[in-house]
Amino acid sequence: MKPAIARQLQRFRDQSIFRQALDHACDYLENQEARPAFPPPEALNALNAFDEPLPGRPTAADAILQMLHDIGSPATTAIGGGRYFGFVNGGALPIGLAARLLADVWDQNAALHIMSPIAAKLEQVCEDWLVELFELPAGTAAGLVSGTSTATLSGALAARDALLRRRGWDVSRRGLFGAPPIRVVLSDGAHASVGKALAIAGIGAAQIERVPADDQGRFDTRFLPPLDDNTLLILQAGNVNTGAFDDFESLCAAAREAGAWAHIDGAFGLWARACAETSNLTAGMELADSWSADAHKTLNSPYDCGIILCRDRQALATALGASGSYLQFSDGRDGMLYTPEMSRRARAIELWALMKGLGRSGIDDLVAQLCLRARQFADGLAARDFRILNDLVFNQVLVACDSAELTTRTLELIQASGECWCGGSHWKGEPVIRISVCSWATTAHDIERSARAFVAARERASSII
Ligand SMILES: Cc1ncc(COP(=O)(O)O)c(C=O)c1O
Repeated sequence: MKPAIARQLQRFRDQSIFRQALDHACDYLENQEARPAFPPPEALNALNAFDEPLPGRPTAADAILQMLHDIGSPATTAIGGGRYFGFVNGGALPIGLAARLLADVWDQNAALHIMSPIAAKLEQVCEDWLVELFELPAGTAAGLVSGTSTATLSGALAARDALLRRRGWDVSRRGLFGAPPIRVVLSDGAHASVGKALAIAGIGAAQIERVPADDQGRFDTRFLPPLDDNTLLILQAGNVNTGAFDDFESLCAAAREAGAWAHIDGAFGLWARACAETSNLTAGMELADSWSADAHKTLNSPYDCGIILCRDRQALATALGASGSYLQFSDGRDGMLYTPEMSRRARAIELWALMKGLGRSGIDDLVAQLCLRARQFADGLAARDFRILNDLVFNQVLVACDSAELTTRTLELIQASGECWCGGSHWKGEPVIRISVCSWATTAHDIERSARAFVAARERASSII
């Protein structure tokens, strides 16, 4: 290597750049509350500075970090602040973020125990704690993946392979072409990621038996088709628009009785199980066979931290297993058995830190607080003559103005205001404003301030349409 380049690269080992990065990070965190919920136009324009040719020579590390801080930080969405209500994007609790910082420096590969004993140990502990927290059957396996999309894919693969195995078909050997068909039953209220996961698993949209959703987006149990032991039934804890939960008590019981495989997509809603006030929403979920969830939503871990839980450990490991002469499996936990990936970052570190930091009571409080703030938001908006369209059971609120056009314009102005940020959606044929209260940092004051931003936006919108 040329000496000039070697000198530059050496600087990446210099601890001062980590201190600089930490300084920038602390500065970012200190200004979190003052940051607009969405970057202003000038911050977005400044991003053009990144449009440069690939540098021919190395760039000094401190200049790189400075550029990220000066131009990158102002162009972030303030999801760590208290007034970001878009999608279902949770905040990041400080203990999780700090543990993640340390884990990033460790840079462990969580594929095998032999690659990282600490990652393997904490995955094992997280698995035990999650099974306990969610009151799942003893022996349930957990895999840590990027998010619920991948978790649902993992559950679908385990289910598909297990159902086909019952028919004497080994997918890993014979593939899917020519395999006997399996049935998949899914409600119209399911999240888009489920259809995608099924397609990746080789189950096309036209092969899915769709069941209508009720007025809250729940699986309408009146239309449950007869199930059998060749069926994958996919249910939902927390509809992305309304927050509604399927009736697990009857649906999971029906699946169990028929020998069908039930999977629950609980991206943000599975955490309702861990809160005394909301756990009734999840009654019967322990009867399912697999569950997907995100720690980066309701639990407020940093991105990306998804979880697949599977009652039949062997089914998950068989669907996702891989072998190779150089792979050294152990008697300890080898995380790659439970995930589609081999190399993975050690997500268990922040997950463990969060569960230890919050404890049962802290998780209970966190979930209850999100629900309380959502209720406050809905009540505050209803008192200001906005229409609330869903039954408030969890942390999602659907809002509309008096006309579709007013709703659309109001949402545009809310998004442009920087005061708070909400996404849009369509509900029963009309445009709506979606509020997802998903951050630990949201205070009663944030809700009040955001409700005022709604009113100001609606006033302006009324004056221009
Ligand atoms: C119900 C539901 N399922 C699945 C997903 C997808 O999760 P992820 O983006 O972590 O893959 C979401 C995202 O909001 C969701 O709300």
